[in-house]
Amino acid sequence: MNTDRIFLTGFMGSGKSTVAPRLARGLGYKALDLDEEIVQHTGLSIPALFELYGEERFREEEKNLLRRLTEQTGIVVSLGGGAVMDPSNMAWCKQKGTLVYLKGSAAFLASRLASSRQDRPLLHDENGSLLPPGLLLDRVSDLLTQRSAIYEQAHITVTIDAASISSVVARIQGALRQ
Ligand code: S3P
Repeated sequence: MNTDRIFLTGFMGSGKSTVAPRLARGLGYKALDLDEEIVQHTGLSIPALFELYGEERFREEEKNLLRRLTEQTGIVVSLGGGAVMDPSNMAWCKQKGTLVYLKGSAAFLASRLASSRQDRPLLHDENGSLLPPGLLLDRVSDLLTQRSAIYEQAHITVTIDAASISSVVARIQGALRQ
């Protein structure tokens, strides 16, 4: 397994952005966040990018910046939850490094997302607000059903329901050592 670069994938709310710096510190690597790179590069928030130019433009930025970031080694990259839905991004991450899936159940993820301060366009209602809890769970369940088989192609899968951040980090470190 190529561990020069570690990519974290998983559904929105799975904790990728929290785990990445902790894991990076333990490995002596640098933590990078693909969504943050997109915001810096475009000068727009993710919701503004979706709103002004559409999801397709967001996916283009995501794809290009993923490749640019990967010029570096010794990095832990927190990917947006949809990044590996593009087969070429999936292949890229698996070839250039180790892909880790933070796996949560729909109920666990929906309850986390209901109290998240982060604004995620795919979880908006028609007025641009976060879906109410029941509808949020339906949206998360539908999207997760569509995406699970793809996430499962990661090199390493770590379950996150009811797990502390420290134990998630420790389990990834253990799997990387094997
Ligand atoms: C998305 C996940 C988001 C962000 C964008 C789309 C997705 O990142 O990239 O809103 O398609 O799952 P997080 O997974 O960090 O929330």
